[in-house]
Amino acid sequence: MGISVDEQKKIFTLKKSEQAFNITKELMPRGVNSPLHAFKLVGRQPIIMDSVKASMGVKMGCLHSKMRDIDGNEYIDYVGSWGPAIIGHANDKVLAALVETMKKGTGFGARCLLENDLVEMVISAVPSIEAYIGVIRLARAFISREKIIKFEGCYHSHADPFLVKEGSGVATLGLPGLFDVPKGATYKTLTSPFNDISTVKNLFNMNTGEIAAVILEPVVGNSGFITPKLGFLEDFQKITKENDALLIFDEVMTRFRLSYGGAQEYFGITPDLTTLGKIISGGLQVGAYGERKEIMEMVAPTRPMYQADTLSGNPLTMIVGIHTLKRLKKPGSYEYLNMITSELIQGIGDVGKRAGHASCEGPVYEFEDAKKSHTAKFARFYRGMLEEGVYFVPSQFGAGFTSLAHTLEDVK
Ligand SMILES: Cc1ncc(COP(=O)(O)O)c(C=O)c1O
Repeated sequence: MGISVDEQKKIFTLKKSEQAFNITKELMPRGVNSPLHAFKLVGRQPIIMDSVKASMGVKMGCLHSKMRDIDGNEYIDYVGSWGPAIIGHANDKVLAALVETMKKGTGFGARCLLENDLVEMVISAVPSIEAYIGVIRLARAFISREKIIKFEGCYHSHADPFLVKEGSGVATLGLPGLFDVPKGATYKTLTSPFNDISTVKNLFNMNTGEIAAVILEPVVGNSGFITPKLGFLEDFQKITKENDALLIFDEVMTRFRLSYGGAQEYFGITPDLTTLGKIISGGLQVGAYGERKEIMEMVAPTRPMYQADTLSGNPLTMIVGIHTLKRLKKPGSYEYLNMITSELIQGIGDVGKRAGHASCEGPVYEFEDAKKSHTAKFARFYRGMLEEGVYFVPSQFGAGFTSLAHTLEDVK
């Protein structure tokens, strides 16, 4: 059945993945349907996965999060479905609840009671709460202005207004802007380097009374890992308030990961609007935004800001979200996540130093700093780690994700 890591090193082959990918290339552009799945930066064909499960380890009698590809290679997974597998993949309780819910049907295209349960849980995680194009239109509708500010290297989905100096796949692949995004869709989008309060001030001064909102990842995970400088978020909130603009936190990565209440709980700053994604559904498709009630009341059917989604509130999505958040809420979850993550980061740094490599040179305050990272070296490191049975995000700009199913044995 499973192959040990030592055995895997000897017989590591991706033959089946490569064969399958040669077929996939004919079916989809470059063989993928999301750019970062392409592994372009790390100089490999994508690996085709077969299964992933947090299961009882034989040696330690504890959980392991193991992903297996179609060649039978096993990996310790630090991608975690790009974050939301935070309690471990295919958790037994979640699967049982999913099966029970599925017996009642896979979706209604109408409201279901589980929506209330999940929304209540999300709201109660922080004192107040409620997708991308929607949230910007809402901010514009509420403030009656058109311009927005975003930060270089922050990623807020592939909705038109954000496709300016984006992070994630756009940064990794160095994609130029093309005619797919009309100038009209982005010319109201102003940009600033992250952590640069004076540029933000200048933008407000040069566009007095025109800026509706500022959106940011409060901790950036899409152009390297960039934390806000001390006081940056506070200063920033002050400036938005002084200019009657809305502050929007994109907490797709940070909510329920940085802490249960996300960046706003961690830094003690409540934005005017918050966007959330896949973590509130344990990795199934979902998007949500919300926060101040008077702003949310602009949304149809109450008021004119039109927003629709035929299959929103799907019961399967809701049940997985409910069980994921319930597990995360148990005492000790975040202490464990912090411990495992610190061990991993410290370990990578120490091993790198011993071998004469720095994993990070100099402070990283903004995207330009992150861009100084050594792409070819990262690609070599990445390919080596794969052969050792460790699966990271295939981009030097991507964050890694640990989960409650990772063990000290995994990270050592
Ligand atoms: C901060 C942030 N915002 C938004 C998104 C949603 O992007 P997409 O719709 O491409 O999944 C992501 C995806 O990882 C993200 O990291």
